[in-house]
Amino acid sequence: MAAATSFGSLLLLSLLVAAKANFLFNRFNGTEKNLLSLDGASIVESSGLLKLTDRSKNVIGRAFYKTPFKMLETNSTAQKNASSFSTSFVFSIVSPSNSGGGYGIAFVIAPSTKFPGADPGHYLGLFNKSNDENKENHIFLVEFDTVNGYKGETDTEGNHIGINVNGMNSTAVEPAAYYKGTGSNKEELNMENQDAVCAWIEYDGEKVNVTVAPLSLEEKPLKPIMSEPLNLDDILEESMYVGFSASTGQKVSSHYILGWSFAVNGPAPSLNISELPEPPPKEKDRSSSASWVNFIIASLSVIIFILLVTLLFRRVHRRYMHSEKLEEWELDCPHRFRYRDLHAATKGFKESEKIGSGGFGTVYKEVELVLKLGLLCTHQRADSRPTMRQVTRYLNWDDPLPEILDWRHSDSQISRSFSSGFLTGYSTGSTSTSHNLSTIGKSTMSIEAGT
Ligand SMILES: *[C@@H]1O[C@H](CO)[C@@H](O)[C@H](O)[C@H]1NC(C)=O
Ligand SMILES: *[C@@H]1O[C@H](CO)[C@@H](O)[C@H](O)[C@H]1NC(C)=O
Ligand SMILES: *[C@@H]1O[C@H](CO)[C@@H](O)[C@H](O)[C@H]1NC(C)=O
Ligand SMILES: *[C@@H]1O[C@H](CO)[C@@H](O)[C@H](O)[C@H]1NC(C)=O
Ligand SMILES: *[C@@H]1O[C@H](CO)[C@@H](O)[C@H](O)[C@H]1NC(C)=O
Ligand SMILES: *[C@@H]1O[C@H](CO)[C@@H](O)[C@H](O)[C@H]1NC(C)=O
Ligand SMILES: *[C@@H]1O[C@H](CO)[C@@H](O)[C@H](O)[C@H]1NC(C)=O
Repeated sequence: MAAATSFGSLLLLSLLVAAKANFLFNRFNGTEKNLLSLDGASIVESSGLLKLTDRSKNVIGRAFYKTPFKMLETNSTAQKNASSFSTSFVFSIVSPSNSGGGYGIAFVIAPSTKFPGADPGHYLGLFNKSNDENKENHIFLVEFDTVNGYKGETDTEGNHIGINVNGMNSTAVEPAAYYKGTGSNKEELNMENQDAVCAWIEYDGEKVNVTVAPLSLEEKPLKPIMSEPLNLDDILEESMYVGFSASTGQKVSSHYILGWSFAVNGPAPSLNISELPEPPPKEKDRSSSASWVNFIIASLSVIIFILLVTLLFRRVHRRYMHSEKLEEWELDCPHRFRYRDLHAATKGFKESEKIGSGGFGTVYKEVELVLKLGLLCTHQRADSRPTMRQVTRYLNWDDPLPEILDWRHSDSQISRSFSSGFLTGYSTGSTSTSHNLSTIGKSTMSIEAGT
C-alpha cells in the first residue's frame, strides 16, 4: 500500500516535473480523445468535434485533459508563485434559431476534474449556491456566456466574456468583441451567430489577457479585448487540471470545441485552421417541441372555430329549409342529417334539452348526439359504421349510442396524421360538419398516442 502510494506520488511528480508542458489538438476523433476525461453530456463526434452539451435542458458537459500540470512554484521561504500559462481554442455555440440559447461554456483550471453537486444553468456545471464564491474552490475560469441574469435578476439575452475566480461573480466582464487590425474600434462578436469563435487566454503572472475573433478572420487580433490585472498565487495549486465545462438550463444551446492547445510557462502551440473539423451546422430549431405544440393548439383552435361557425350557420340555415333530399350515396353511410330528424330529436330545440350555453349560442344534448353520430359514421373501420336504420334508432333515442373507442389507424406520427387531417379539414371546407369532426377526433387521438 505504502509502496503503491509512493509509486503513485513518484509518477505524479514525474508527470508534474515537465516545466514547459503543452499539448495541441487540431481535432478530437483520433487518439486525442484518449487523453481527455469526458464527463456528463460530452462526447467526441466522428467528425472530429468535441461536443460538450446537446440542446437538452439542464445538462452539464465537461472535458478535461487527463494529466495535471504543475502550476505553482513554492520557493524555500514558502513564497507562492503561480506559473504563467497560455491557451487557444475554437468553439461553436449552436442555439435554437441562432439566438436566445444558453447558457455558456467556460475554460477552467481546477484542482480536480470532478465537481460533485455542481449545478447547470448560470453555474456552468462548476459551482452551486452553497459553494459559489468559496475561497477553498481554487478554480480559475473564463466564461463565454450567452445569458445575463446571474443572482436573481431575470435572465436576458447576453453575449459576454467574464474572468472569474472561485465562483460565478466575475472579476471582470466585457461584451464579446474584438479589435480589427491596429484600430481602436471594437467590432461586436455575437458568439451564437458565428460558425465558430477563436479564443486566446494568456497569463503572465500579472495580467490575464482574453482575445476572441471569428474563425473566418483566420488571425489573432493584435490587441486583447480584456487585459485584467490578476494575481493567481493564492488560486492556483501545485497540481491543476485544465479543461472545459458547459451547461444548459431553461435556455439551451449545443456547445462544441473544434480544436485546443495549452502550455504552461510558454506560448500555446498554434492551431492549424485547415486541420480543424467543419464547424457544426447552424441548425434550425429541432429540439424545441414547444413550437409543434403551439402549432397544433393554434390549428385545433382554428378548426374548432370554423366548426362552430359552420354548426351555427347550418342550424340557422336549416330553420328555413324544412325539406331536404338525401342523396343516394349517403344512404349506406349518412354524412348529414335532415333538419326534420334533428328537429324531432331535439324536440324542437327545447330549453330543457340544453346542456350548456356559450358565446356561439345554445348547445343541445341532441347536437352532441348528432356530432358523435357523425364521428361514428366516418369511422375508419366500415364494420363500425351504423346503418341508416341504426342511425334513425339512435336519433329517436331508441338505442344508446355506442362508445367510440377504437380510433387507431395506421398513421403513427403526429405530424403526418395531423397535417393530413388538417388539410382534409380545410380542403373540404364547410361542406361536411361530421367530416371536420372526425378530423379532430383523429388528430386528438394521435396526439395522445404520441405523447
Ligand atoms: C477522424 O475524422 C476524419 C475525418 O472525418 C477521418 O478521416 C478519420 O479517419 C477519423 N479518425 C478516427 C480515428 O476516427
Ligand atoms: C521567493 O519568491 C519571492 C517572490 O515569489 C521572492 O521575492 C523571494 O526572493 C524568493 N525567495 C527565494 C529564497 O528564492
Ligand atoms: C513567478 O512566475 C512568473 C510567471 O511564471 C515568472 O515570470 C517570475 O519570474 C516568477 N518569479 C519568481 C520569483 O520565481
Ligand atoms: C454543492 O457543491 C458542494 C461541492 O461540490 C457539495 O459538497 C454540495 O453537496 C453541493 N450542494 C448541493 C445542495 O448540491
Ligand atoms: C461580486 O464581486 C464584487 C467585487 O469583485 C463585489 O463587490 C460584489 O459584492 C460581489 N457580488 C456578489 C453578489 O458576491
Ligand atoms: C496582455 O495585453 C497587454 C496589452 O495589450 C500586453 O501589454 C501584454 O503583454 C499582454 N500580456 C500577455 C501575457 O500576452
Ligand atoms: C496545416 O495543415 C495543412 C494540411 O494538413 C498542412 O498542409 C500545413 O502545412 C499545415 N500548416 C502548418 C503551419 O503546420
